[in-house]
Amino acid sequence: MDFILKNDCLNIDWNCVSQTLRKVGMANFAADIHQKAFENSHTVVFVFDEEKLIGFGRAISDGVYQAALYDIAVLPEYQGKGIGRMIINNIVKSLPMCNFILYASPGKEKFYERLNFRKMNTGMALFQKASDMTEKGFTV
Ligand SMILES: CC(C)(COP(=O)(O)OP(=O)(O)OC[C@H]1O[C@@H](n2cnc3c(N)ncnc32)[C@H](O)[C@@H]1OP(=O)(O)O)[C@@H](O)C(=O)NCCC(=O)NCCS
Repeated sequence: MDFILKNDCLNIDWNCVSQTLRKVGMANFAADIHQKAFENSHTVVFVFDEEKLIGFGRAISDGVYQAALYDIAVLPEYQGKGIGRMIINNIVKSLPMCNFILYASPGKEKFYERLNFRKMNTGMALFQKASDMTEKGFTV
């Protein structure tokens, strides 16, 4: 199957972004909030099967040496076909000098390990909903 990658936010259906995040169990907000988050990101990638948005991801970055990945998601029916790898590789390639950090959804660490990410020993987070994040398994 051939998939189309797009690296800008033009003509994106933000409701679809929100619904996809909800479908895969990730934090989701109103469509305009996701629009703002993606438009304010350094690098974005959207993957299409013909006209259908099937996956996406974004990096916030200084564009020089540090970057963080967010909202990496692939529609359930398209998972396991190499699309997640394609999204990460596309973002990493566009910021070639950068270190990348992220926090994986609990249970998704192995996906990132397959792509050469390594667990951090000293990662720290100041979350808005700190106790929720502990309950969900993100923090100790
Ligand atoms: C995690 C996610 C983005 C992976 O996307 P995907 O398209 O299914 O992954 P790929 O097919 O590109 O897989 C790449 C490699 O990772 C492995 N992999 C993918 N998901 C995995 C998992 N949950 N556990 C272990 N390995 C996994 C694949 O087997 C493949 O290995 P290979 O190199 O041996 O072939 C996708 O499953 C998803 O959207 N999940 C729900 C949302 C989510 O949790 N996103 C991550 C937030 S941090």
